[in-house]
Amino acid sequence: ASLHRRRFVVREAPYKRLCKTKKILTVNGQFPGPTLYAYHGDTLIVDVYNKGKDNITIHWHGAKQPRFPWSDGPEFITQCPIRPGGKFSQKVIFSSEEGTLWWHAHSDWSRATVHGAMVVYPKPGTGYPFPKPHAEVPIIFAEWWKTDVMKVIKKALRTGGDPNVSDAYTINGQPGDLYPCSKSGTFKLNVDSGKTYLLRMVNAAMNDILFFSIAKHNLTVVGVDGSYTKPFATNYVTIPPGNTLDVLLTANQPPKRHYYMAARAYSSSSIVPFDNTTTTAILQYNGPNYPPSSLPPFMPYLPYYNDTPAAVNFSRRLKSLANKAYPISVPQKVDTQIVSTLAINTFPCPNNSCAGPNGSRFAASMNNISFANPSIDILRAYYNHMKGVFGARFPSFPPLVFNFTGDSLPLALQTPKKGTQVKFLKFSSTVEIVLQGTNLVAAIDHPMHLHGFSFYVVGLGFGNFDKNKDPLKYNLVDPPFLNTIMVPKSGWVAIRFKANNPGVWFMHCHFERHLTWGMDTVFIVRNGKRPNETLLPPPPDLPAC
Ligand code: C2O
Ligand code: CU
Repeated sequence: ASLHRRRFVVREAPYKRLCKTKKILTVNGQFPGPTLYAYHGDTLIVDVYNKGKDNITIHWHGAKQPRFPWSDGPEFITQCPIRPGGKFSQKVIFSSEEGTLWWHAHSDWSRATVHGAMVVYPKPGTGYPFPKPHAEVPIIFAEWWKTDVMKVIKKALRTGGDPNVSDAYTINGQPGDLYPCSKSGTFKLNVDSGKTYLLRMVNAAMNDILFFSIAKHNLTVVGVDGSYTKPFATNYVTIPPGNTLDVLLTANQPPKRHYYMAARAYSSSSIVPFDNTTTTAILQYNGPNYPPSSLPPFMPYLPYYNDTPAAVNFSRRLKSLANKAYPISVPQKVDTQIVSTLAINTFPCPNNSCAGPNGSRFAASMNNISFANPSIDILRAYYNHMKGVFGARFPSFPPLVFNFTGDSLPLALQTPKKGTQVKFLKFSSTVEIVLQGTNLVAAIDHPMHLHGFSFYVVGLGFGNFDKNKDPLKYNLVDPPFLNTIMVPKSGWVAIRFKANNPGVWFMHCHFERHLTWGMDTVFIVRNGKRPNETLLPPPPDLPAC
């Protein structure tokens, strides 16, 4: 394991997309931002300079940061933001991850353009559990707004309504040739016939789960969220925001044609607005005899927008390797069970003057608490025993048991409580969290992300979680090991992990609008008894509040 230093300068840079130039926030002037490379067990020190106009924080999504949440990044959870002109040297500790992860801003909506991939190679001298690919290529999905994305969220918060949907999706920063003024920039993947490529896919989109596929080519999934999977072949993938996928592509089709690689939204709600455009890149074969074909590229099959079975069947196929070389450690027994509802809610508005349903303002919640950011970060408050910053009353069970996925839902729960409540976990306890979707206001999927851990997804189903029957069907043998899980519309998911990482860890929906509306909570894992089981002290340059 070794230590490397990197430099991230957060600053604005002009980018032209969809026929119009605008300034976007970037790292080192790049969109998408630079890829970070490391080996299993390495630590990176990233010197983050804020040369922009707004506060910023950076999060290393999927790096578990053992005992060191101080560098984790979510603003007002583990740090106060880096102010314009400020600097923060952050440690990124890769303890057990291997594969593709990513980093992104974790402050307002700046992650729209402030994000990039992280690649963690196996330890030097060891290899992948699959044949070594000829080359590796990051494939980063994102969303593009013609207007300033900070204005999009500010307006939504002012009016209380839905934020404007994006104007395009992008692949490696480019919308692709189905959009105006986008042809020349379209991302091109050049391949040698017969060779295999590792696509390192990141969904950095703000508000949409995506379907992705490549015309005429099969994909083999080999990893998810920095952990290997049993390989499986598929002609499309589902990738929720927050997830990363490692996918093998073999260039085994007639080389004289071009093939589109395409992505578009999976959006199953009939009332939630979404960007229904399609982003493309082009797969083309190298070779002196293969001049670019004049024929139009083949378009791939993509599941329809609201194809929930297609979306869920893909996630159901993800399984851990669970063999001698890559063993798993799923908690077979559970000390702490938490059941949390996920809901879209509303707050009343004076004179019903807001732009949400019936003049209300949109909100979102877990167990009917709509998370409110404190003004001092929770980690600092916890570490320094400061009073009045947060409460410890995040409930372990929903306040009311009802038919969560039915249609006559208790109106009382439409308006949540506002609060900054955390849940304490004993060091080393085994934890199960059941995330229960509800049909309050809108039945919709939620990609739920936990900081500081990966978790085993032991169960997934539709309807209401049944505490007697559903656990009998859990997969405790080879469940996938993820940091973000799509809880399906009108369904539930059960995850398990061992709380062996002391510190303050955020959990939230990775749809940016739901995060903003309060579908968030915080876990505080207490210290263990041994010296190497305790939270480390803060770094000297932790940004002031
Ligand atoms: Cu990828 Cu809290 O985030
Ligand atoms: Cu959500």
